[in-house]
Amino acid sequence: MKTILLTGCAGFIGANFLKTIAAFNKNYNFIILDALTYAGHYPTIENDIATNSHFKFIKGDIRNREVVETIFKEVNISGVIHFAAESHVDNSIINPNIFVETNVLGTLNLLNAALRLGESDIRFLHISTDEVYGQLKEADPAFCETTPIAPSSPYSASKAASDLLVRSYHETYKMDVLITRCSNNYGPYQFPEKLIPLMIHNALNDKKLPVYGDGRNIRDWIYVDDHCEGIWQAFLKGRKGEVYNFGGNSEMRNIDVIKTILKQVGKPESLISFVEDRKGHDWRYAINFNKAKKELQWQPKTLFSDGIKKTVHWYIENASWINSVIKKQ
Ligand SMILES: NC(=O)c1ccc[n+]([C@@H]2O[C@H](COP(=O)([O-])OP(=O)(O)OC[C@H]3O[C@@H](n4cnc5c(N)ncnc54)[C@H](O)[C@@H]3O)[C@@H](O)[C@H]2O)c1
Repeated sequence: MKTILLTGCAGFIGANFLKTIAAFNKNYNFIILDALTYAGHYPTIENDIATNSHFKFIKGDIRNREVVETIFKEVNISGVIHFAAESHVDNSIINPNIFVETNVLGTLNLLNAALRLGESDIRFLHISTDEVYGQLKEADPAFCETTPIAPSSPYSASKAASDLLVRSYHETYKMDVLITRCSNNYGPYQFPEKLIPLMIHNALNDKKLPVYGDGRNIRDWIYVDDHCEGIWQAFLKGRKGEVYNFGGNSEMRNIDVIKTILKQVGKPESLISFVEDRKGHDWRYAINFNKAKKELQWQPKTLFSDGIKKTVHWYIENASWINSVIKKQ
């Protein structure tokens, strides 16, 4: 049976991937490598690991070359799906170094181990972000896979650097790599530092909802299950060395997302509090995912209006989860 190494599955997207995709693929074994940083919460996946004989969890850091190499020496790895990253833009503005260490050097460790110690036809799928493309003006066409890379934050710069390394391993060593770039995800198990879970949590607790600038920045929102399905379709069907964009078809101003949440939880707009804008705050992201549609037969299934209802409901039902991740910080 083939074994896939999944990194970062105690975090938001990885945990959802484990629960909605990996759990149903009994043709593979999955090794899950996660350092359990502040953003990785083992209880989120504890039951999945305990009840699935195809899953094996290893607590370890991708920055540690020995840890990564040992896994590849002990098990024949035929695929890598690489979620692990420092992922919060605000943290990258305060402490950029760890973003380079994890996102760039950690990815390099995985690439080297996969190239030297993995199965000869190993497939390496690197999860990236639309933020590597930089920002759009209101009237600009959406990002496509050939849009030049122009990151604005230390986070997006570190992701762009790792994307370029991944690409170079295809160009130089003919390694079978793929890069996926997705817009803003939302859904269950997202750490409450990110916009949607933070706003839901604060609204539920009658706390102020801090909004950067005038709140008119635009993001495209995708329900996390749709992103996970896209990643899996890319892993199964994507062409070697290619980049695939995923988006949710839901461009919205931040302030409108926040007002929608307040409505859902029945709280007043007076909770909104405008704060000083984020440094280097990108104005707009929008994604053209025609390539994924055509080559992977993928498109997002969840409308924002449905996804946000499910998400708000989940956070209301799982207050203990959010309290436990906050306590861990
Ligand atoms: N959240 C989004 O909206 C979004 C959008 C597009 C792309 N992405 C990308 O998707 C991936 C997953 O994002 P997320 O939102 O789930 O992130 P997250 O911050 O919720 O989770 C990151 C996970 O990686 C683990 N990790 C961090 N550093 C590590 C290290 N050095 N070694 C091993 N494990 C480590 C953490 O413990 C955590 O489990 C990231 O690569 C991110 O750049 C995220």
